[in-house]
Amino acid sequence: MKYSTTTAACVLSVAGSALAVPLLSLKLDVGNNMTAADLAEKIAVVAPMSTSCSSQFPECVNNTAMAPHFLNAFNLYEITEPGQIAGVLALTAFESGDYKYKHNTNPDHHGQGTSNQQMAEWNYKYAKSIPELKSEVAKQDPGTSDAQKDAILNLVVPDEYNFGTGPWFLKNQCSPAVLTALARGDDAGFQEYMGCVGTTMTEERQAYWNRAKSAFGLNK
Ligand SMILES: *[C@@H]1O[C@H](CO)[C@@H](O)[C@H](O)[C@H]1NC(C)=O
Ligand SMILES: *[C@@H]1O[C@H](CO)[C@@H](O)[C@H](O)[C@H]1NC(C)=O
Repeated sequence: MKYSTTTAACVLSVAGSALAVPLLSLKLDVGNNMTAADLAEKIAVVAPMSTSCSSQFPECVNNTAMAPHFLNAFNLYEITEPGQIAGVLALTAFESGDYKYKHNTNPDHHGQGTSNQQMAEWNYKYAKSIPELKSEVAKQDPGTSDAQKDAILNLVVPDEYNFGTGPWFLKNQCSPAVLTALARGDDAGFQEYMGCVGTTMTEERQAYWNRAKSAFGLNK
C-alpha cells in the first residue's frame, strides 16, 4: 500500500508564499478555465469540512487558501480534464482528512504526508523534481533513513508544494491509460486511479468520489 488512511503532526505551513508558476500565466485550459474561486467552491463540495480550520489542527488549510495552489499544480502537471481534477481532489481530501493533516498520524510512518499522504519514497522523488528544492533534498540523499525521510517531508509540506503531490503523482507515477480512464469521470476510471495509487475502493472513498463527481457535473 502506498497510502494509509491515518494522518497527522505539527509543522507550520508557509501560507501565501510564492507560487512556482504565476497564476496570471495559466497556459492550459484547466477544468474549462476554472478560476481559483470556482475551484474553492468545488473543493468545499468534495471536502465539506475544509471551509474552516480549527486551531486544533495546526496543519489545516481551508478551501479558499488552498485553491490557488491546487490550480497552479493542475497547470504545472497538466491535469486539465474535469474528471482528473475531481479524482485528485477526491483522493487528497480523503487522505488528508479534508486537508487537516500534512504529516501522517502514525509516528512510525516517517516521511509519509502532504495532501496526498504519499509515502516517503514518493516525497523524495517529488522533492527531487522541484528545481527550488534540489540542493536541499540532495543533503538528504539517499532519503532512506527515518531522519532523512522526515527532513524531506518537511521540504514539501509548505502550501506551494503540499497541494502538488496529487497532480504530480497522477501525471508521473500513473500510466497514460489511467489518466485517460480518469478523464472519463466515471467509477471505473476512479477505480483504475485507486489501483495506480495502490489502494482499493471503500465506502468512504466512494463517498468522496461521489461528491467530486457532483461538484464537477460528472454524474451521468
Ligand atoms: C478558455 O479561455 C481561453 C482564453 O480566453 C479561450 O480561448 C478558450 O476557448 C476557453 N475555453 C473554454 C472551455 O471556455
Ligand atoms: C482561509 O484561510 C486564509 C489563510 O489562512 C484566511 O485568511 C481566511 O480567513 C480563511 N477563511 C475562512 C473562511 O476561514
